[in-house]
Amino acid sequence: MRYIRSHTCGELRDQDIGREVTLCGWVAKRRDFGGLVFVDLRDRYGLTQVVFDPAEKDSAPSYKKAGDLRSEYVVWCKGRVRARPEGMRNSKLPSGGVEVVALDLAILSEAKTPPFAIDDEVDAAETLRLKYRYLDLRRPTLQRNLMIRHKMLSIVRNHLDSEQFIEVETPILYKSTPEGARDFIVPSRLNPGTFYALPQSPQTLKQLLMIGGMDRYYQIARCFRDEDLRADRQPEFSQIDIETSFLDEEAFFPILESMIAKLWKEILGQDVKTPFLRMPHAEAMQRFGSDKPDVRFGLELQDLSVIFSDSQFQVFKGALAVNSRGLRGSIRAVVVPGQAEKFSRKDLDGLQAHAASYGAKGLLWMKIQPTGELQSPAAKFFSETEKAALFQKLALKPGDLVLVVADAKNKTVFDSLGAIRLAVGGQLGMIPKPGEGQPAFLWVMNFPLLEFDDKEQRYYACHHPFTSPRPEFFEDFVRGTNLDRIEASAYDLVLNGVEIGGGSLRIYRQDVQQAMFKLLGLTPEEAKAKFGFFLEALQYGTPPHGGIAFGIERLSALLCGVGPIRDVMAFPKTQKGSCLMSESPSEVSPEQLAELAISVTKTISRD
Ligand code: AMO
Ligand code: AMP
Repeated sequence: MRYIRSHTCGELRDQDIGREVTLCGWVAKRRDFGGLVFVDLRDRYGLTQVVFDPAEKDSAPSYKKAGDLRSEYVVWCKGRVRARPEGMRNSKLPSGGVEVVALDLAILSEAKTPPFAIDDEVDAAETLRLKYRYLDLRRPTLQRNLMIRHKMLSIVRNHLDSEQFIEVETPILYKSTPEGARDFIVPSRLNPGTFYALPQSPQTLKQLLMIGGMDRYYQIARCFRDEDLRADRQPEFSQIDIETSFLDEEAFFPILESMIAKLWKEILGQDVKTPFLRMPHAEAMQRFGSDKPDVRFGLELQDLSVIFSDSQFQVFKGALAVNSRGLRGSIRAVVVPGQAEKFSRKDLDGLQAHAASYGAKGLLWMKIQPTGELQSPAAKFFSETEKAALFQKLALKPGDLVLVVADAKNKTVFDSLGAIRLAVGGQLGMIPKPGEGQPAFLWVMNFPLLEFDDKEQRYYACHHPFTSPRPEFFEDFVRGTNLDRIEASAYDLVLNGVEIGGGSLRIYRQDVQQAMFKLLGLTPEEAKAKFGFFLEALQYGTPPHGGIAFGIERLSALLCGVGPIRDVMAFPKTQKGSCLMSESPSEVSPEQLAELAISVTKTISRD
């Protein structure tokens, strides 16, 4: 007997009525009406109702067997398609106009009672669902998400192929690459005491492919970063990784934008307007307090520093004092028009705590009373001139709420007020939910090249150290002057406030690359040990080149209209980086460790 199927469980329609068919699938539901048994049969393609009706000719034996069926049994079934009786049609199900009257049934595989019902409505704890991920994967939503992800990658491959990009695989056992996270390392048995690092991205490799003359490269690349995890960050994730020679942004962006537009058109049927909006990084920070602004709602930041330049309020004074590096902070505000009474003291305390988690030392509130008077814990420090200027600049009206952060570090002001803007926008229902509304794409351009780390008193590359300064800042870069002001030829693609991709034009001269390593505090020896192979390669004829990488999970989550990227991954890890299903990471045997010449000095107790 061959248990094969003539149709899938999502395929049968009215035109199949009268046909004899065979189906294979899982028992999603069994209802026994004493005399009639209904079974919903499920596979990746859908659900079909199978009826076991002893009154039907030849049906008695399968009716008897149907009594043994339980949820998640895998069965084969032969039957005849018939129309469902009037009133019994299920318009929510594509195959809901028909049912299959069973003539024969075979149980191919029995199933233990699953630890949770396999149903999109079911509200099982996520830890349980991750432990039994293979059961969770049977849920229609997860299946749909993985199919969208698949479709997305197939559109991407076709598009890049049509633009002459070729897919090249690069090694996973490699050397540390500097994307800013911690590396995962792998001990080498053949070379005791030495380690591979898993690539945080194929950054150096794709640049070496350009030196290797590949001209246009892409890869669906696995990346590994040992960083603190969040809803949109996994330790292991994938990128659409792209690199090209002899193109600048003007020539490169249209290729990328048409790829993205195709995804939205072919998967969601939505027309996306190109070219995408572009915004300098400085503007994104000043208006939205973020380098990945959600531009779908207002509540933009306003700079109050000029108004309060002579303030008697200690907090404001401190923020505007010039520091040892000749820089000063700022005082900035978000105005929530007409909503002051919606925010109780408790709400405001909550917002202050939120701002504090981004480093703010406080969150000053001001409410405009119905009388037009300004109420605020700091009102007594404001002069009449300052108040008048404030009302004018912010066009304040009764009922308005103003939230202010002042800090000697602009980064703190932006980070905390940007977070407050998102929190307030969310509370007031101003932000469309995942999957709703028109997508808002935005290129954020002209990032700063370097970022000064106060703690370590040194510069870091904002993107990575292969990113080129913009040509107009070349001189400053080589001379090492005005380092805080140098802009990079770097760009991020942002969608609805999510950074879905980032890239840059690269340094392609060895002397410039060396200067960059020096600026970042790498001694020539360190640079040689870490990137010697790369510096050497730059000397053998390097084409001007640049590229980008898109986060596949973030892109597919947005296409699927889901929040956490776990929902678009077959086997995701938890916030603590573990796989609950396989219980990895896990201990290895003493023999394995000995072979690798490794001794373990600390173990954690499992929770
Ligand atoms: P970058 O580090 O900006 O650039 O990464 C590119 C994109 O990858 C996604 N991403 C992540 N997704 C899930 N989990 C993570 N932990 C995670 N980290 C990053 C983001 C991000 O925009 N080599 C450079 C690219 C280049 O310069 O061409 C790079 O990796 O969507
Ligand atoms: P204080 O004088 O410390 O009582 O602070 C008066 C008000 O200023 C309080 O509402 C604080 O939340 C607020 N505040 C303190 N520090 C800051 C700051 N750096 N930025 C904005 N508001 C602040």
